[in-house]
Amino acid sequence: MSYQNILSITNDFICTITVNRPKKLNALNSATIQELHHAFKQADEDNNIRVIIITGSGDKAFVAGADIAEFADFSVVEGESLASQGQALLFDYVANLSTPVIAAVNGFALGGGLELAMAAHIRIASDNAKMGLPEVSLGVIPGYGGTQRLPQLIGKGRALEMILTAGMIDAQKALSYGLVNHITSLEELIPLAHKIASKISKNSPMAITAAIVAINAGYEDGVNGFDEEVTQFGKCFGTADFKEGTQAFLEKRKANFKGE
Ligand code: COA
Repeated sequence: MSYQNILSITNDFICTITVNRPKKLNALNSATIQELHHAFKQADEDNNIRVIIITGSGDKAFVAGADIAEFADFSVVEGESLASQGQALLFDYVANLSTPVIAAVNGFALGGGLELAMAAHIRIASDNAKMGLPEVSLGVIPGYGGTQRLPQLIGKGRALEMILTAGMIDAQKALSYGLVNHITSLEELIPLAHKIASKISKNSPMAITAAIVAINAGYEDGVNGFDEEVTQFGKCFGTADFKEGTQAFLEKRKANFKGE
């Protein structure tokens, strides 16, 4: 698939996917969501990719939201389908990938942009970043998981304030809320994402997937996270990565994980 709205580059086990519609502040139209789904799927299925970084092109926006021009005249049924398809193709899809995803938030992350960052497993931001879920100012609510993931990440009270006021918070506040793990200059943002990705890529891909599954389970209705942890813990013992990791420790050498 050749991409019109995104870029995807892989180096040293790390795939960087960039939303590339800078003139529209990288807003997510349906074509971009399809392309992102394809790029994330390909990266996840590639054994040579151990971490995915998602960012936006230019120095102004990560993603300024879903493309408002595209849904402005939608009906109730179309609105519901926009949210459910988007969640299935991108937001839930990213959150449940077996490959870890780092969002490098390089400017505005609004609406679907913040929801995409929140679907990622780790978030870092540049000091010019601004984050918010302004949907109620448009007469709608966050539909790509924002009403669920924002309270999970920053607590119900803060999430309600952000969503009901439609306000934006700056990078410093996002850091203090725990919405992002680190802030840095714009120039250092991708290098920092690579530094974190490189640390992750040295660990067992099988164990990393198991950890993501176990952690996500704790946030799923009707699923006991502790039980899932036991299952995933046990599964690790059947992997070549586990044999390599424990053997390497006993032989006092670095493990060379194959992700098997
Ligand atoms: N959907 C569609 N187009 C968008 C967009 C979005 N979510 N966000 C920005 N754009 C477009 C603008 O329409 C404009 O296009 P144009 O040059 O063809 O008119 C271009 O991107 C630049 O945006 P502009 O508003 O001129 O930049 P700004 O610096 O004045 O303001 C923002 C930046 C982010 C504050 C403002 O663009 C904004 O509020 N965007 C919408 C955010 C939002 O509500 N997101 C949630 C959607 S559910």
